[in-house]
Order: sequence, then C-alpha cells, then structure tokens
Amino acid sequence: MAGSNRNGAPGDTPAHVPVLLDAVLETFLPLDGKHIMDGTFGAGGYSAALLAANGHVLAIDRDPDVLPFAEKLEAEFPHRFKFVSGEFGDLDKIAETAGPLDGVVLDIGLSSMQIEDHNRGFSFLRSGPLDMRMSATGITAAQLIADTSEKELGDILFGLGEERRSRAIASAIAVAKKTAPIKTTDDLVAIVEKVIRHRPDRHHPATRTFQALRIAVNGEIGQLVEALFAAERTLSSGGVLSVVSFHSIEDRIVKRFFKPVEPGSRHRPQMPIATQKSWARVASPVRASQKEIAINPRARSATLRSAIRGEAPARPTDTAGLGVPGAALKRLVA
Ligand SMILES: C[S@@+](CC[C@H](N)C(=O)[O-])C[C@H]1O[C@@H](n2cnc3c(N)ncnc32)[C@H](O)[C@@H]1O
Repeated sequence: MAGSNRNGAPGDTPAHVPVLLDAVLETFLPLDGKHIMDGTFGAGGYSAALLAANGHVLAIDRDPDVLPFAEKLEAEFPHRFKFVSGEFGDLDKIAETAGPLDGVVLDIGLSSMQIEDHNRGFSFLRSGPLDMRMSATGITAAQLIADTSEKELGDILFGLGEERRSRAIASAIAVAKKTAPIKTTDDLVAIVEKVIRHRPDRHHPATRTFQALRIAVNGEIGQLVEALFAAERTLSSGGVLSVVSFHSIEDRIVKRFFKPVEPGSRHRPQMPIATQKSWARVASPVRASQKEIAINPRARSATLRSAIRGEAPARPTDTAGLGVPGAALKRLVA
C-alpha cells in the first residue's frame, strides 16, 4: 500500500504520496471499528487507508486547500469519516465533539501540494511570494523577516533550522532589508546564496533557512508539544499515538516525550518520575526502506515513533526535558 496515490484526487498538483503508510497503519491493527484521529489530513492518504481497513476517522487540517479531498471522503464514507478544519494542538477539544478515540496519528511535514504550489512560498525552488502560512492566516514569512531583529532572526535560523551560518545569514538579511523589503522566495534565496555558495553535490543552501522560517511562521514546535500532551489527555490506556516527523528537532521532542529520562541522569533536565508510565510499549523508530525512498524521495528523512498509552494519569503540558529549541520556547510555546 505504501506509495499508493489517490489518483483522480481534486486539484491540479499531483496528490501527496503518503509516507510510511504501511508502518503507520500497522500501529493501529486490528482496525475494525476503531476510532482514529488523523491530525494531519493533507490529501487524505492515511485517512483513506484507515477507512479501507474499516476504521472510523476524525480528521483535522489547518490548510483550507485540503477541503476538496476531505469532501470526497465525506461523500464516500458518510458514517465513518468526519473532517474538522483546525489545528492539531487542539486535538483534545476537537475530539470531545466526537467521543472516545482509540488512536491518534500525526504526519507533521508539509504536503507536496503545499511545497509545489509556488503561491504558498514554501519552496526555495519555486518563485513566489514569501508566505509559508499553512492556514492562510497570521503573519507571513515576509512579515516575520520585516518585523524581526537581526539577533532574533539568527536565533530562529539556528534554533529551528540548525543552520550553522545563522548569524551570517541574519546579518545579510538585515543589510538587504535596509534597501528593499524581502518579499519573494527568490529575494531570500539570493541573499542566502551570497553567504553560502550553491554546490550541486550538497543540499540547497537555503534549505535550513526555509525550514526555520516555516516552523516559526506556523508555530510548528508549539503545535507539536501541545498535540502530544493533548493526545495523552485524550487517549485512555491502550490507545495508540503514532507520529511521523521529518527533521531532528521534532523527532527529538517525540522521542523524549515518549521516554522521559531516568531520574538521576546527568544529561538533561528530568521529567517527574510519575511520567514514566504515561506511555507503555514505546516502539523502535521506523524509517523508510530504500524501495520507498526510490519511489518517494520525501520519505528519506521521515521517522515514525509510536507508543501505547499507559495507565498513569496525563501529565500537564510541559516542555522541560523535551529539547525544545530556545527560539521556539521564546516565541511560540504558549
Ligand atoms: C505531510 S501532510 C499530511 C499528509 C497525509 N498524511 C496524507 O497522507 O495525505 C501534513 C498536513 O498537516 C497539516 N498540518 C500541519 N500542521 C498542522 C497543525 N498544527 N494543525 C493541523 N494541520 C496541520 C498541513 O497543512 C498538511 O496538510
């Protein structure tokens, strides 16, 4: 099933090819009659597979462009599929409207529809406005750049993009801003390329800058932390949480959320001891096979982590010990 596309899906751009689909599905098996929340609906690849395996799905997405995909599934499965426009950070409140859940899945990258639409400004390879908003609300990346000091921009590029040349890029942006506003993807790429030479054998020099700005614009780290604790509150013992992430910052947060450090460890701040049993049977991380990567290169950086909800009461939302970058803590975590 992995790599299958929903041919004939609405829209002009090819529909998103779901990543690690078989592995994700497996975490919820047997699915018959179970109620799963798909917190990142996208083109509905996971939802469609969950429905095909006889599950009930409550789906969420913050991007209004996914509505035609959701309407298609609502028409096909009127009694087993429901879509809610919203943010997965609120998944417990959204779930309250639907009854108990047996599982939650999050696939927290961008969809290919978002990346490939040049009007959304997510890709350094496509000329367009420097927007980057998933939900078409809030401030754009262009506004963020305009309103943010050189120091804070450097912190964002370093903390959320792990960009080693963060200070030099922030300084080049500050200089460029004095002459003209940075409004397009091409404007930003040109500035980054003055700092880091483009070498065909390496990642594009603007990769990390675009990642950092996108995470900041969409408050992605805050959303992830909120969603993990919301899932812990919502799922009762035996419920499954499966999270697919696409870069090391998010993967680290998910890993530490599921497995808080043993008390006494000198390596990082500890979470309360009572948290140890919030999640039982934490599965080993799953990565895409070479075969899947060959079909779908976006699977290259994906990691699936899943666990089964234990007996312990839900913890209060707390970023301590999760490895949340300072830039995200300062701006984005409520
Ligand atoms: C990688 S795509 C999901 C693809 C989907 N699994 C599929 O098979 O088609 C991620 C989706 O999550 C949505 N998203 C990202 N952050 C979100 C958030 N905080 N709340 C709701 N949706 C979010 C994006 O708009 C995007 O459509």
